[in-house]
Amino acid sequence: MKLVKRIANLGYGSRKQVTTMFREGRVTDAAGEVLYADDKIEHESIRLDGEPLDPPPGLALMLHKPTGYTCSTKDAGRLVYDLLPPRFRLRDPSLSTVGRLDRDTSGLLLLTDDGALLHRIISPRANVVKRYRATLAEDLRGDEAALFASGTLMLDSETTPLAPAQLEALAPREAELSITEGRYHQVRRMFAAVGNHVLALHRVAIGGLALGHLPPGAWRALGVDEIASLFETSGESVSG
Ligand code: URA
Repeated sequence: MKLVKRIANLGYGSRKQVTTMFREGRVTDAAGEVLYADDKIEHESIRLDGEPLDPPPGLALMLHKPTGYTCSTKDAGRLVYDLLPPRFRLRDPSLSTVGRLDRDTSGLLLLTDDGALLHRIISPRANVVKRYRATLAEDLRGDEAALFASGTLMLDSETTPLAPAQLEALAPREAELSITEGRYHQVRRMFAAVGNHVLALHRVAIGGLALGHLPPGAWRALGVDEIASLFETSGESVSG
């Protein structure tokens, strides 16, 4: 693909605007040599105004979603995309959230422009474990872990029971729940099904990838090993 189109597809501007950037000598190699629109050069060596380019297609990133942000490109109000560089919204292929977190849920959110990767993560067959920490309005009764693990819990207005899920009580009103599915409002509805109410919900890990110490609102690109760690299977292997 031509250099102009490659840079335009990263959201830096229209092809016309990027062509102008070349004319103005703003696109260089790592040594500061001006590049021309038909030059052949690897991504890592390109600089725009002296800065390395954003990652090429194949980008996967983790974001610490704060509460109050919506996983959508066009809702009114704060969007998770507002936490990323504005040009990320103009990338082609486009950057999508890997599943969704509710507006009132915080924690680990993945975004990628790699459709195959996205489907691999959300596919029920992949069994990727999503681990949540829930703060509850009522004390745990004590029977929730067995019920959630049973594979028989049926949520309101659904026709198939939930796959087994692991609950770990951390305090009378604090629990971690590991689920492999991603049904609508699943965690909140699971606690509602046992007569409780989720006051705060935070996703701490997906597969073997933990949110770690990434501050709220911050993001970073994932490395190859981190992407592979998403597919570390069992709930026990989830750490962090
Ligand atoms: N379950 C929920 O209820 N909400 C989320 O945001 C994620 C899982």
